[in-house]
Amino acid sequence: MPAAPDPNAGSRPGPPAIISTRGLSKTYPGGIRAVIGLDMVVRAGEIYGLLGPNGAGKSTTIGMLTTRVMPTGGQAEVGGVDVIARPAVAKQVIGVVPQTNTLDRAMTVRDNLVFHGRYFGMSGREAKQAAAEMLERVRLADRATMPVLALSGGMAQRLMVARAILHRPQVLFLDEPTAGLDPQSRLALWDILEELHADGQTILLTTHHMDEADQLCDRVAIMDHGRLLALDTPTALKRSTGAASIVRVTADGDLHRLAGALRAEVDGVEDAQVLDGQLRLRASRTTGLLPRIVSASERAGVVVSDLSIAEPTLETVFIDLTGRDLRE
Ligand SMILES: Nc1ncnc2c1ncn2[C@@H]1O[C@H](COP(=O)(O)OP(=O)(O)OP(=O)(O)O)[C@@H](O)[C@H]1O
Ligand SMILES: [Mg+2]
Repeated sequence: MPAAPDPNAGSRPGPPAIISTRGLSKTYPGGIRAVIGLDMVVRAGEIYGLLGPNGAGKSTTIGMLTTRVMPTGGQAEVGGVDVIARPAVAKQVIGVVPQTNTLDRAMTVRDNLVFHGRYFGMSGREAKQAAAEMLERVRLADRATMPVLALSGGMAQRLMVARAILHRPQVLFLDEPTAGLDPQSRLALWDILEELHADGQTILLTTHHMDEADQLCDRVAIMDHGRLLALDTPTALKRSTGAASIVRVTADGDLHRLAGALRAEVDGVEDAQVLDGQLRLRASRTTGLLPRIVSASERAGVVVSDLSIAEPTLETVFIDLTGRDLRE
């Protein structure tokens, strides 16, 4: 198992830590160790992503940082507040968009926000004004008087974001914010998160989409089985793979034998492994690679039916670390 990454890896020096944890852990009743000794630092103004597959411990981590899940070990501070010792105070400095829809379906779009503002101690007037402002921000002003039931999935998600930031929290937490959204709604949400980021909002999000982590996050922590395996900027993580390109080969025949043949015969192929019925090659070069792979495959008596070449992605990093891909 690789050593846990330095919690400050890839971070710009300067901005104060807004989230910090020491040895944060959760073992659920029954003995499932969902999060194991997490040391984490998130600095003011950054978008920090937890990238990992199902069951990695992402929601449990967010749950502990937002007081919903009681840790079984370690410490955590958010906005200078000890979330374990002072959960009620901590709730004032955080905003949460959970993994499931928690809007009040009996209320209109606007009232969901106004009600939330009142709950956080705003006067009726303040809450209405804040609600109107937030509906503009998330492009739902024209839906203010609609029942929540009439919203699409993407709109409901934007309303959850508006509600989470209504009381101007120091940190916005989003658990799988675009899971289940169509590509267009996903882009619309990314735009809104980027605008909030530009305004200095500190954001922690979880995702199992490598492109979401890559596109949105200043720093990405790769999480698996309750631990952080790597942490850095997306660019640095991808560069750390040391590969110039990743080639995927679909072929009929013995892929393990083909792997051996390509490794031995094709200049630039550094590693070959069979993953999900495909052959995955790491290569130190890009030019001239594909024709060489095709002819070496023919010589090995294997018919290639599909071939693709791409730059390393955050998924490459995950596969290098775990031998598995990110999909469920
Ligand atoms: N309330 C609970 N009781 C018992 N075990 C739990 C509970 N919640 C989560 N777990 C277990 O803890 C581990 C981590 O779960 P968690 O929900 O934090 O992962 P995740 O990374 O958010 O996964 P997903 O991508 O599916 O949302 C899993 O093995 C899960 O089954
Ligand atoms: Mg989850």
